[in-house]
Amino acid sequence: MDETATITIDGKSYNFETFVGTEGERCIDIQHLRDITGCITLDPGFGSTGSCLSNITFVDGARGILRYRGYPIEELAERASFVEVAYLILYGELPNRIQLLNFRNQIRMHAPIHTNLEHHFSGLPHTAPPMAILSAMLNLVSCFHPEVLEVPTTGEEFGQTASLLLSKVRTVAAFAYRTATGKPINQPNPNLTYCGNFLHMMFSDPYVEYKVSPIIDKALNLFLILHADHEQNCSTTTVRVVGSSRANLFSSVAAGVSALMGPLHGGANVAVIEMLQDIKRSGKPLQHYLDRAKDKKDEFRLMGFGHRVYKNFDPRARILKKHVDEVLGALNLKDELLDIAKELEEYTLKDQYFIERNLYPNVDFYSGLLLRVIGIPLNMYTVLFAIGRMPGWISHWKEMHDHMQRISRPRQIYTGPILRHFQQISDRL
Ligand code: SDX
Repeated sequence: MDETATITIDGKSYNFETFVGTEGERCIDIQHLRDITGCITLDPGFGSTGSCLSNITFVDGARGILRYRGYPIEELAERASFVEVAYLILYGELPNRIQLLNFRNQIRMHAPIHTNLEHHFSGLPHTAPPMAILSAMLNLVSCFHPEVLEVPTTGEEFGQTASLLLSKVRTVAAFAYRTATGKPINQPNPNLTYCGNFLHMMFSDPYVEYKVSPIIDKALNLFLILHADHEQNCSTTTVRVVGSSRANLFSSVAAGVSALMGPLHGGANVAVIEMLQDIKRSGKPLQHYLDRAKDKKDEFRLMGFGHRVYKNFDPRARILKKHVDEVLGALNLKDELLDIAKELEEYTLKDQYFIERNLYPNVDFYSGLLLRVIGIPLNMYTVLFAIGRMPGWISHWKEMHDHMQRISRPRQIYTGPILRHFQQISDRL
Protein backbone atom coordinates (compact mmCIF):
# COMPACT_ATOMS: atom_id res chain seq x y z
CA MET A 1 0.00 0.00 0.00
CA ASP A 2 1.28 3.52 -0.69
CA GLU A 3 2.65 5.24 2.41
CA THR A 4 0.18 8.08 1.98
CA ALA A 5 -3.37 8.48 0.69
CA THR A 6 -4.46 11.68 -1.00
CA ILE A 7 -7.84 13.31 -0.42
CA THR A 8 -8.79 16.21 -2.67
CA ILE A 9 -11.30 18.74 -1.32
CA ASP A 10 -12.34 21.81 -3.32
CA GLY A 11 -9.44 21.21 -5.68
CA LYS A 12 -6.86 21.08 -2.87
CA SER A 13 -5.06 17.80 -2.19
CA TYR A 14 -4.13 16.57 1.26
CA ASN A 15 -1.91 13.57 2.05
CA PHE A 16 -2.61 11.26 4.99
CA GLU A 17 -0.44 8.45 6.31
CA THR A 18 -1.55 4.87 5.66
CA PHE A 19 -1.05 1.89 7.92
CA VAL A 20 -1.02 -1.86 7.26
CA GLY A 21 -1.68 -4.35 10.07
CA THR A 22 0.15 -7.64 10.61
CA GLU A 23 -2.54 -9.47 8.63
CA GLY A 24 -2.50 -7.00 5.75
CA GLU A 25 -5.53 -4.91 6.81
CA ARG A 26 -5.12 -1.39 5.43
CA CYS A 27 -6.23 1.96 6.81
CA ILE A 28 -5.83 5.67 6.30
CA ASP A 29 -4.89 7.55 9.45
CA ILE A 30 -7.37 10.45 9.52
CA GLN A 31 -6.87 11.48 13.16
CA HIS A 32 -5.95 15.01 12.04
CA LEU A 33 -8.33 15.23 9.05
CA ARG A 34 -10.53 17.91 10.67
CA ASP A 35 -7.59 20.01 11.89
CA ILE A 36 -6.06 19.94 8.40
CA THR A 37 -9.14 20.16 6.14
CA GLY A 38 -12.00 21.34 8.37
CA CYS A 39 -13.94 18.26 7.25
CA ILE A 40 -14.89 15.14 9.17
CA THR A 41 -15.88 11.71 7.85
CA LEU A 42 -19.43 10.40 8.25
CA ASP A 43 -19.88 6.67 8.98
CA PRO A 44 -23.04 5.86 11.02
CA GLY A 45 -22.61 2.31 12.35
CA PHE A 46 -18.84 2.61 11.88
CA GLY A 47 -18.82 0.10 8.99
CA SER A 48 -15.68 1.66 7.52
CA THR A 49 -14.17 3.19 10.67
CA GLY A 50 -11.37 1.73 12.78
CA SER A 51 -11.43 2.90 16.41
CA CYS A 52 -8.08 1.46 17.47
CA LEU A 53 -5.10 -0.77 16.77
CA SER A 54 -5.46 -4.08 18.61
CA ASN A 55 -3.32 -7.19 19.19
CA ILE A 56 -6.10 -9.34 20.63
CA THR A 57 -8.35 -10.83 17.92
CA PHE A 58 -8.13 -11.08 14.16
CA VAL A 59 -11.29 -11.58 12.12
CA ASP A 60 -11.23 -11.99 8.34
CA GLY A 61 -14.87 -11.89 7.25
CA ALA A 62 -14.17 -12.76 3.62
CA ARG A 63 -12.24 -15.93 4.49
CA GLY A 64 -14.20 -16.87 7.64
CA ILE A 65 -11.12 -16.59 9.87
CA LEU A 66 -11.18 -15.95 13.64
CA ARG A 67 -7.96 -16.07 15.73
CA TYR A 68 -7.33 -15.10 19.35
CA ARG A 69 -3.76 -13.78 19.69
CA GLY A 70 -2.91 -15.64 16.45
CA TYR A 71 -4.37 -19.02 17.46
CA PRO A 72 -7.15 -20.31 15.14
CA ILE A 73 -10.53 -20.62 16.87
CA GLU A 74 -10.84 -24.17 15.50
CA GLU A 75 -7.74 -25.32 17.42
CA LEU A 76 -8.69 -23.55 20.64
CA ALA A 77 -12.25 -24.87 20.46
CA GLU A 78 -11.07 -28.45 20.06
CA ARG A 79 -8.12 -28.52 22.46
CA ALA A 80 -8.20 -25.73 25.06
CA SER A 81 -10.23 -25.00 28.18
CA PHE A 82 -12.10 -21.69 28.58
CA VAL A 83 -9.78 -20.70 31.47
CA GLU A 84 -6.72 -21.28 29.23
CA VAL A 85 -8.30 -19.18 26.46
CA ALA A 86 -9.22 -16.44 28.95
CA TYR A 87 -5.55 -16.35 30.10
CA LEU A 88 -4.40 -16.18 26.44
CA ILE A 89 -6.74 -13.29 25.63
CA LEU A 90 -5.80 -11.42 28.82
CA TYR A 91 -2.02 -11.92 28.76
CA GLY A 92 -1.26 -12.60 25.09
CA GLU A 93 0.31 -16.03 25.59
CA LEU A 94 -1.03 -19.48 26.50
CA PRO A 95 -0.27 -20.22 30.18
CA ASN A 96 2.29 -22.82 31.25
CA ARG A 97 1.27 -25.34 33.89
CA ILE A 98 2.18 -23.12 36.88
CA GLN A 99 0.57 -20.01 35.40
CA LEU A 100 -2.64 -21.95 34.66
CA LEU A 101 -2.73 -23.42 38.17
CA ASN A 102 -2.29 -19.97 39.76
CA PHE A 103 -4.90 -18.42 37.45
CA ARG A 104 -7.37 -21.21 38.20
CA ASN A 105 -6.78 -20.81 41.96
CA GLN A 106 -7.32 -17.04 41.76
CA ILE A 107 -10.62 -17.63 39.97
CA ARG A 108 -11.66 -20.29 42.50
CA MET A 109 -10.78 -17.99 45.41
CA HIS A 110 -12.93 -15.14 44.08
CA ALA A 111 -16.07 -17.21 43.43
CA PRO A 112 -18.08 -16.33 46.58
CA ILE A 113 -19.85 -12.95 46.72
CA HIS A 114 -20.37 -10.78 49.83
CA THR A 115 -23.46 -11.86 51.80
CA ASN A 116 -24.73 -8.25 51.78
CA LEU A 117 -24.73 -8.47 47.97
CA GLU A 118 -26.77 -11.67 48.06
CA HIS A 119 -29.62 -9.74 49.73
CA HIS A 120 -29.98 -7.54 46.64
CA PHE A 121 -31.10 -10.55 44.61
CA SER A 122 -34.05 -11.28 46.86
CA GLY A 123 -35.49 -7.79 46.31
CA LEU A 124 -35.73 -8.23 42.54
CA PRO A 125 -39.01 -9.16 40.79
CA HIS A 126 -39.02 -12.69 39.39
CA THR A 127 -39.68 -11.18 35.96
CA ALA A 128 -36.44 -9.12 36.02
CA PRO A 129 -34.41 -9.79 32.82
CA PRO A 130 -31.22 -11.64 33.89
CA MET A 131 -29.07 -9.34 31.70
CA ALA A 132 -30.44 -6.28 33.54
CA ILE A 133 -29.61 -7.99 36.84
CA LEU A 134 -26.13 -8.88 35.60
CA SER A 135 -25.34 -5.33 34.50
CA ALA A 136 -26.56 -3.88 37.81
CA MET A 137 -24.82 -6.48 39.95
CA LEU A 138 -21.45 -6.07 38.21
CA ASN A 139 -21.47 -2.43 39.27
CA LEU A 140 -22.57 -3.45 42.78
CA VAL A 141 -19.79 -6.07 43.08
CA SER A 142 -17.22 -3.28 42.78
CA CYS A 143 -18.83 -1.55 45.82
CA PHE A 144 -17.70 -4.50 47.95
CA HIS A 145 -14.19 -4.38 46.48
CA PRO A 146 -13.02 -0.76 46.62
CA GLU A 147 -9.56 -1.97 45.61
CA VAL A 148 -10.84 -2.68 42.07
CA LEU A 149 -12.21 0.81 41.50
CA GLU A 150 -8.82 2.27 40.63
CA VAL A 151 -7.33 -0.89 39.15
CA PRO A 152 -4.11 -0.33 37.19
CA THR A 153 -3.81 -2.10 33.84
CA THR A 154 -0.55 -3.84 34.64
CA GLY A 155 0.96 -6.10 37.30
CA GLU A 156 -0.45 -8.30 40.00
CA GLU A 157 -3.39 -6.03 40.87
CA PHE A 158 -4.71 -6.19 37.33
CA GLY A 159 -4.45 -9.98 37.32
CA GLN A 160 -6.29 -10.22 40.63
CA THR A 161 -9.05 -7.89 39.38
CA ALA A 162 -9.42 -9.72 36.07
CA SER A 163 -9.74 -13.13 37.77
CA LEU A 164 -12.12 -11.63 40.34
CA LEU A 165 -14.37 -10.37 37.55
CA LEU A 166 -14.19 -13.62 35.55
CA SER A 167 -15.19 -15.50 38.69
CA LYS A 168 -17.86 -13.17 40.09
CA VAL A 169 -19.70 -12.83 36.75
CA ARG A 170 -20.34 -16.58 36.87
CA THR A 171 -21.56 -16.52 40.49
CA VAL A 172 -23.77 -13.45 39.94
CA ALA A 173 -25.31 -15.04 36.84
CA ALA A 174 -26.17 -18.27 38.67
CA PHE A 175 -27.52 -16.37 41.71
CA ALA A 176 -29.69 -14.24 39.40
CA TYR A 177 -31.19 -17.38 37.89
CA ARG A 178 -31.78 -19.12 41.21
CA THR A 179 -33.51 -16.14 42.82
CA ALA A 180 -35.53 -15.36 39.67
CA THR A 181 -36.88 -18.92 39.78
CA GLY A 182 -37.56 -18.78 43.51
CA LYS A 183 -34.90 -21.39 44.29
CA PRO A 184 -32.33 -21.20 47.11
CA ILE A 185 -28.91 -20.08 45.89
CA ASN A 186 -26.01 -22.55 45.78
CA GLN A 187 -22.68 -21.38 47.11
CA PRO A 188 -19.74 -22.03 44.74
CA ASN A 189 -17.81 -25.27 45.17
CA PRO A 190 -14.03 -24.63 44.81
CA ASN A 191 -13.41 -28.28 43.87
CA LEU A 192 -15.21 -27.94 40.55
CA THR A 193 -14.00 -26.66 37.16
CA TYR A 194 -14.97 -23.19 35.95
CA CYS A 195 -17.90 -24.60 33.97
CA GLY A 196 -18.72 -27.34 36.48
CA ASN A 197 -18.98 -24.77 39.28
CA PHE A 198 -21.36 -22.66 37.22
CA LEU A 199 -23.58 -25.65 36.42
CA HIS A 200 -23.52 -26.65 40.11
CA MET A 201 -24.56 -23.13 41.20
CA MET A 202 -27.29 -23.14 38.54
CA PHE A 203 -28.78 -26.59 38.97
CA SER A 204 -27.87 -28.21 42.31
CA ASP A 205 -30.66 -28.55 44.82
CA PRO A 206 -30.32 -28.58 48.60
CA TYR A 207 -30.44 -32.38 48.71
CA VAL A 208 -29.27 -33.27 45.20
CA GLU A 209 -25.81 -32.08 44.09
CA TYR A 210 -25.81 -31.52 40.31
CA LYS A 211 -23.55 -34.12 38.74
CA VAL A 212 -21.46 -32.47 36.00
CA SER A 213 -21.17 -34.80 32.99
CA PRO A 214 -17.87 -34.44 31.08
CA ILE A 215 -19.86 -34.10 27.83
CA ILE A 216 -21.85 -31.15 29.19
CA ASP A 217 -18.78 -29.58 30.83
CA LYS A 218 -16.95 -29.78 27.46
CA ALA A 219 -19.96 -28.34 25.61
CA LEU A 220 -20.14 -25.34 27.96
CA ASN A 221 -16.37 -24.83 27.68
CA LEU A 222 -16.74 -24.79 23.91
CA PHE A 223 -19.60 -22.28 24.04
CA LEU A 224 -17.61 -19.91 26.26
CA ILE A 225 -14.42 -20.24 24.14
CA LEU A 226 -16.33 -19.36 20.96
CA HIS A 227 -17.70 -16.21 22.61
CA ALA A 228 -14.49 -15.06 24.35
CA ASP A 229 -13.74 -12.16 22.00
CA HIS A 230 -14.64 -10.79 18.61
CA GLU A 231 -12.73 -7.55 17.91
CA GLN A 232 -14.67 -4.24 17.85
CA ASN A 233 -18.28 -5.43 18.03
CA CYS A 234 -21.05 -3.31 19.56
CA SER A 235 -20.52 -4.35 23.19
CA THR A 236 -16.70 -4.44 23.13
CA THR A 237 -16.56 -0.97 21.60
CA THR A 238 -18.98 0.13 24.33
CA VAL A 239 -16.58 -1.18 27.00
CA ARG A 240 -13.69 0.71 25.38
CA VAL A 241 -15.67 3.93 25.00
CA VAL A 242 -16.89 3.87 28.62
CA GLY A 243 -13.40 2.90 29.84
CA SER A 244 -11.85 5.74 27.85
CA SER A 245 -13.38 8.20 30.35
CA ARG A 246 -11.28 6.33 32.97
CA ALA A 247 -14.43 4.68 34.37
CA ASN A 248 -13.38 1.58 36.30
CA LEU A 249 -13.35 -1.89 34.75
CA PHE A 250 -16.58 -3.03 36.47
CA SER A 251 -18.61 -0.03 35.27
CA SER A 252 -17.15 -0.48 31.78
CA VAL A 253 -18.11 -4.15 31.45
CA ALA A 254 -21.52 -3.43 33.03
CA ALA A 255 -22.07 -1.08 30.06
CA GLY A 256 -20.93 -3.85 27.74
CA VAL A 257 -23.58 -6.15 29.23
CA SER A 258 -26.22 -3.53 28.42
CA ALA A 259 -25.06 -3.28 24.82
CA LEU A 260 -24.96 -7.07 24.44
CA MET A 261 -28.59 -7.30 25.57
CA GLY A 262 -29.94 -6.05 22.22
CA PRO A 263 -31.62 -8.64 19.92
CA LEU A 264 -29.40 -7.58 17.01
CA HIS A 265 -26.32 -8.42 19.07
CA GLY A 266 -26.07 -10.83 21.98
CA GLY A 267 -29.81 -11.18 22.32
CA ALA A 268 -29.94 -12.91 18.94
CA ASN A 269 -29.31 -16.35 20.44
CA VAL A 270 -32.64 -16.10 22.29
CA ALA A 271 -34.37 -14.69 19.21
CA VAL A 272 -33.14 -17.65 17.12
CA ILE A 273 -34.71 -20.22 19.44
CA GLU A 274 -37.97 -18.22 19.62
CA MET A 275 -37.99 -18.06 15.80
CA LEU A 276 -37.41 -21.82 15.48
CA GLN A 277 -40.12 -22.51 18.06
CA ASP A 278 -42.53 -20.26 16.10
CA ILE A 279 -41.68 -22.10 12.89
CA LYS A 280 -42.29 -25.45 14.57
CA ARG A 281 -45.53 -24.27 16.21
CA SER A 282 -46.94 -22.63 13.07
CA GLY A 283 -46.29 -25.58 10.78
CA LYS A 284 -45.94 -23.06 7.94
CA PRO A 285 -43.42 -23.91 5.20
CA LEU A 286 -39.89 -22.51 5.67
CA GLN A 287 -40.27 -20.57 2.41
CA HIS A 288 -42.93 -18.47 4.20
CA TYR A 289 -40.27 -17.27 6.66
CA LEU A 290 -37.68 -16.63 3.97
CA ASP A 291 -40.25 -14.55 2.06
CA ARG A 292 -41.02 -12.55 5.22
CA ALA A 293 -37.30 -11.98 5.85
CA LYS A 294 -36.96 -10.59 2.31
CA ASP A 295 -40.05 -8.38 2.50
CA LYS A 296 -38.86 -4.82 3.28
CA LYS A 297 -42.30 -3.96 4.62
CA ASP A 298 -42.01 -6.77 7.17
CA GLU A 299 -39.81 -6.16 10.22
CA PHE A 300 -39.12 -9.89 10.47
CA ARG A 301 -35.49 -10.88 9.96
CA LEU A 302 -34.01 -14.37 9.93
CA MET A 303 -32.39 -14.24 13.35
CA GLY A 304 -28.95 -15.81 13.50
CA PHE A 305 -28.21 -14.87 9.91
CA GLY A 306 -25.97 -12.11 8.61
CA HIS A 307 -22.99 -10.36 10.11
CA ARG A 308 -21.30 -6.99 9.73
CA VAL A 309 -17.92 -8.61 9.14
CA TYR A 310 -18.41 -12.23 8.02
CA LYS A 311 -19.38 -12.24 4.38
CA ASN A 312 -18.64 -15.95 4.43
CA PHE A 313 -19.47 -18.53 7.05
CA ASP A 314 -18.95 -17.47 10.68
CA PRO A 315 -16.39 -20.13 11.70
CA ARG A 316 -18.05 -20.31 15.13
CA ALA A 317 -21.34 -21.36 13.51
CA ARG A 318 -19.59 -24.24 11.73
CA ILE A 319 -18.00 -25.45 14.97
CA LEU A 320 -21.26 -25.13 16.94
CA LYS A 321 -23.32 -26.95 14.29
CA LYS A 322 -20.88 -29.90 14.45
CA HIS A 323 -20.84 -29.99 18.25
CA VAL A 324 -24.59 -29.79 18.70
CA ASP A 325 -24.86 -32.91 16.55
CA GLU A 326 -22.10 -34.65 18.52
CA VAL A 327 -23.50 -33.79 21.96
CA LEU A 328 -27.03 -34.87 21.00
CA GLY A 329 -25.60 -38.13 19.63
CA ALA A 330 -23.48 -38.73 22.75
CA LEU A 331 -26.52 -38.16 24.97
CA ASN A 332 -28.75 -40.14 22.62
CA LEU A 333 -31.08 -37.14 22.30
CA LYS A 334 -32.86 -35.53 19.35
CA ASP A 335 -33.91 -31.90 18.96
CA GLU A 336 -36.52 -31.04 16.33
CA LEU A 337 -35.39 -27.41 16.42
CA LEU A 338 -31.94 -28.49 15.22
CA ASP A 339 -33.53 -30.28 12.27
CA ILE A 340 -35.51 -27.12 11.42
CA ALA A 341 -32.36 -24.98 11.78
CA LYS A 342 -30.39 -27.19 9.41
CA GLU A 343 -33.20 -27.18 6.84
CA LEU A 344 -33.53 -23.40 7.11
CA GLU A 345 -29.82 -23.03 6.48
CA GLU A 346 -30.12 -25.23 3.38
CA TYR A 347 -32.94 -23.03 2.06
CA THR A 348 -30.91 -19.83 2.48
CA LEU A 349 -27.87 -21.33 0.77
CA LYS A 350 -30.00 -21.64 -2.38
CA ASP A 351 -31.81 -18.29 -2.12
CA GLN A 352 -30.51 -15.39 -4.21
CA TYR A 353 -31.48 -12.75 -1.62
CA PHE A 354 -29.26 -14.39 1.01
CA ILE A 355 -26.52 -15.29 -1.45
CA GLU A 356 -26.28 -11.76 -2.89
CA ARG A 357 -26.09 -10.26 0.61
CA ASN A 358 -23.67 -12.86 1.95
CA LEU A 359 -26.09 -13.74 4.73
CA TYR A 360 -24.82 -16.93 6.38
CA PRO A 361 -25.49 -18.40 9.84
CA ASN A 362 -23.61 -16.47 12.52
CA VAL A 363 -22.52 -17.58 15.98
CA ASP A 364 -26.03 -17.13 17.36
CA PHE A 365 -27.75 -19.46 14.92
CA TYR A 366 -26.55 -22.70 16.51
CA SER A 367 -25.31 -21.47 19.91
CA GLY A 368 -28.77 -21.48 21.46
CA LEU A 369 -29.28 -25.09 20.37
CA LEU A 370 -26.12 -26.08 22.24
CA LEU A 371 -27.34 -24.26 25.36
CA ARG A 372 -30.64 -26.15 25.05
CA VAL A 373 -28.77 -29.44 25.16
CA ILE A 374 -26.78 -28.26 28.21
CA GLY A 375 -30.09 -27.40 29.88
CA ILE A 376 -29.61 -23.63 30.16
CA PRO A 377 -32.98 -21.82 30.36
CA LEU A 378 -33.77 -19.53 27.41
CA ASN A 379 -33.69 -16.28 29.40
CA MET A 380 -30.08 -17.06 30.45
CA TYR A 381 -28.65 -17.51 26.93
CA THR A 382 -27.37 -13.96 26.54
CA VAL A 383 -26.01 -14.08 30.10
CA LEU A 384 -23.89 -17.07 29.01
CA PHE A 385 -22.70 -14.99 26.05
CA ALA A 386 -21.67 -12.25 28.52
CA ILE A 387 -19.76 -14.76 30.70
CA GLY A 388 -17.94 -15.97 27.59
CA ARG A 389 -17.16 -12.44 26.37
CA MET A 390 -15.79 -11.25 29.72
CA PRO A 391 -12.10 -12.05 28.91
CA GLY A 392 -12.41 -10.06 25.67
CA TRP A 393 -14.03 -7.07 27.36
CA ILE A 394 -11.41 -7.02 30.15
CA SER A 395 -8.55 -7.37 27.67
CA HIS A 396 -9.81 -4.59 25.39
CA TRP A 397 -10.31 -2.29 28.39
CA LYS A 398 -6.69 -3.00 29.44
CA GLU A 399 -5.34 -2.56 25.89
CA MET A 400 -7.13 0.77 25.48
CA HIS A 401 -5.47 2.02 28.68
CA ASP A 402 -2.06 0.50 27.84
CA HIS A 403 -2.19 2.36 24.52
CA MET A 404 -3.13 5.51 26.49
CA GLN A 405 -6.05 6.07 24.11
CA ARG A 406 -7.68 9.48 24.55
CA ILE A 407 -11.33 9.76 25.64
CA SER A 408 -13.69 8.67 22.87
CA ARG A 409 -15.72 11.52 21.48
CA PRO A 410 -16.89 11.25 17.86
CA ARG A 411 -18.02 14.36 15.95
CA GLN A 412 -21.36 14.82 14.13
CA ILE A 413 -22.87 16.82 11.32
CA TYR A 414 -25.70 19.04 12.59
CA THR A 415 -28.78 19.10 10.36
CA GLY A 416 -31.26 20.82 12.69
CA PRO A 417 -32.79 24.35 12.66
CA ILE A 418 -30.41 27.28 12.08
CA LEU A 419 -30.19 30.24 14.51
CA ARG A 420 -33.52 31.52 15.87
CA HIS A 421 -34.48 33.46 19.03
CA PHE A 422 -36.74 32.71 21.98
CA GLN A 423 -40.27 34.15 21.91
CA GLN A 424 -42.56 34.55 24.92
CA ILE A 425 -45.45 32.13 24.80
CA SER A 426 -47.83 35.04 24.27
CA ASP A 427 -46.04 35.71 20.98
CA ARG A 428 -46.21 32.12 19.81
CA LEU A 429 -49.14 31.36 17.55
C1 SDX B 1 -23.42 -11.02 17.00
O1 SDX B 1 -20.07 -7.77 15.57
C2 SDX B 1 -19.88 -8.92 16.10
O2 SDX B 1 -18.82 -9.46 16.12
C3 SDX B 1 -21.08 -9.47 16.81
C4 SDX B 1 -20.94 -10.92 17.23
C5 SDX B 1 -19.92 -11.06 18.32
O3 SDX B 1 -19.38 -12.16 18.47
O4 SDX B 1 -19.76 -10.09 19.09
O5 SDX B 1 -20.54 -11.72 16.12
C6 SDX B 1 -22.25 -11.48 17.77
O6 SDX B 1 -23.99 -10.04 17.39
C7 SDX B 1 -23.84 -11.78 15.76
C8 SDX B 1 -25.05 -11.10 15.05
C9 SDX B 1 -26.34 -11.58 15.74
N1 SDX B 1 -27.52 -10.85 15.23
C10 SDX B 1 -28.43 -11.47 14.45
O7 SDX B 1 -28.35 -12.63 14.06
C11 SDX B 1 -29.62 -10.58 14.09
C12 SDX B 1 -29.98 -10.79 12.61
N2 SDX B 1 -28.91 -10.19 11.79
C13 SDX B 1 -29.07 -8.86 11.32
O8 SDX B 1 -29.81 -8.00 12.14
C14 SDX B 1 -27.81 -8.25 10.70
O9 SDX B 1 -27.31 -9.17 9.82
C15 SDX B 1 -26.69 -7.81 11.62
C16 SDX B 1 -27.19 -6.89 12.67
C17 SDX B 1 -26.02 -8.98 12.23
C18 SDX B 1 -25.69 -7.07 10.75
O10 SDX B 1 -26.29 -5.90 10.36
P1 SDX B 1 -25.58 -4.93 9.30
O11 SDX B 1 -24.15 -5.27 9.09
O12 SDX B 1 -25.93 -3.54 9.70
O13 SDX B 1 -26.27 -5.34 7.95
P2 SDX B 1 -27.50 -4.57 7.34
O14 SDX B 1 -28.56 -4.46 8.37
O15 SDX B 1 -26.99 -3.34 6.67
O16 SDX B 1 -28.01 -5.62 6.22
C19 SDX B 1 -27.51 -5.59 4.88
C20 SDX B 1 -28.63 -6.19 4.04
C21 SDX B 1 -29.96 -5.45 4.21
O17 SDX B 1 -30.72 -5.65 3.05
P3 SDX B 1 -30.68 -4.49 1.86
O18 SDX B 1 -31.02 -3.18 2.57
O19 SDX B 1 -29.28 -4.53 1.30
O20 SDX B 1 -31.74 -4.93 0.87
O21 SDX B 1 -28.89 -7.54 4.46
C22 SDX B 1 -30.22 -7.62 4.97
C23 SDX B 1 -30.64 -6.22 5.31
O22 SDX B 1 -32.06 -6.11 5.25
N3 SDX B 1 -30.15 -8.48 6.16
C24 SDX B 1 -31.06 -9.40 6.48
C25 SDX B 1 -30.58 -10.00 7.66
N4 SDX B 1 -29.42 -9.43 8.01
C26 SDX B 1 -29.17 -8.47 7.09
N5 SDX B 1 -32.22 -9.79 5.88
C27 SDX B 1 -32.91 -10.79 6.48
N6 SDX B 1 -32.49 -11.43 7.62
C28 SDX B 1 -31.34 -11.06 8.23
N7 SDX B 1 -30.93 -11.66 9.33
